[in-house]
Amino acid sequence: WIRPDASCPSEWEAPSFAFAFDIDGVLLHERSPLPGAAQTLALLDYYHIPFILLTNGGGKFETDRVAELNEKLGASMTTENFCQSHTPFQELLPEYADKTILVTGSDYEKCREIMEGYGFRSVVTPGDIFRAAPEVFPFDTIGEDYGKPLPKPLWAPPKKKDAMTAHEKVLTTEQGGEEEEKKLEDHLKIDAMFVLNDPRDWALDVQVFMDLLQSKQGYVGTYSEENNRGNWQGDGQPKLFFSNSDLIWAAKYHLPRFGQGAFQHALVGIWKEVTEGRAELKRTSFGKPHRETYEYAEEMLVRHRQEWLKEKGYGEGDIKGGLKRVYMVGDNPESDIAGANDYDGKGRYGTEWVSLLVETGVYDATRMNFREGDVRRADVVSGNVAEAVKWAL
Ligand code: G3P
Ligand code: MG
Repeated sequence: WIRPDASCPSEWEAPSFAFAFDIDGVLLHERSPLPGAAQTLALLDYYHIPFILLTNGGGKFETDRVAELNEKLGASMTTENFCQSHTPFQELLPEYADKTILVTGSDYEKCREIMEGYGFRSVVTPGDIFRAAPEVFPFDTIGEDYGKPLPKPLWAPPKKKDAMTAHEKVLTTEQGGEEEEKKLEDHLKIDAMFVLNDPRDWALDVQVFMDLLQSKQGYVGTYSEENNRGNWQGDGQPKLFFSNSDLIWAAKYHLPRFGQGAFQHALVGIWKEVTEGRAELKRTSFGKPHRETYEYAEEMLVRHRQEWLKEKGYGEGDIKGGLKRVYMVGDNPESDIAGANDYDGKGRYGTEWVSLLVETGVYDATRMNFREGDVRRADVVSGNVAEAVKWAL
């Protein structure tokens, strides 16, 4: 419908608009490109219309994922065209780079590698804890060769039982001094827990996460009396970060599949039981629909445009400033669409965010009846990504 050799419309010379594309359910179903996806990106690239891929997916280095996407979609993107769910975790480095953190996701070792690649210097997985103390998880495991040695030993109560319960005197040495003094600070302390992408071993992950959420200051193997006194997740307790809240996402199967948000809801439900409903689980979620993700994406798109205008020789006056409009093309009313609608006009540049809902993913009128309100909020509903871009242009 727009052949690249056609004359470039004047407003495209220095476009003050850009596109943000969701990946799963808009461009790909898992590894398979969707109809029109490759051609659409090629057209925008040809006319130098800025675009980024904005996904709640994750679990790979940005460079590796971009290389894979280029191969699948015949594109020539760089990491400057790409923002995945855990990319913004790097903003937490100042606070946690030199502390010990726990990470989980689809592959423990890959998650550790990615977080270390971001600059976190002490990264532990639930597999490491299981390897150090298999009794942490008393069920027949899948028997994989889990994890690496821990940076510090796990805390355990004094070996011989005396009148005191282990929890009451967890910091004191054995009566009679037969045992060397056990100092809590000589044991493994986790300061924050990160969910990098969709976890695989939920059973072990839930046990380890709940142990930590109930621990004393993040010392694995302890229990916090403060919790019992109602000071749940008080000062010094480990913080909890999710890279997205997607309850469902569009894979190859004909019905949507559970995503990381389902794991989050499992933890919330168990936490509710453990605290007898007395405390809301404190946690921070990144990814769409959260504002921080759209801020991060908008800055990337503005950088794109400014670099292109500089390359074209435009003056400082034209270069500075932001974008008038970003078209967000997504398949999930509760993440892509809701996030764009909530952020519309509220960013640093007052950029208008137009939400375009496609029917090739999570939302499909024949398959998944979303709450009508969510679907109605989309500015446009179109069959697929090519039709959405055609509408926009
Ligand atoms: O894990 C992938 C899922 O959360 C959805 O990803 O690309 O549709 O934001 P995406
Ligand atoms: Mg999607």
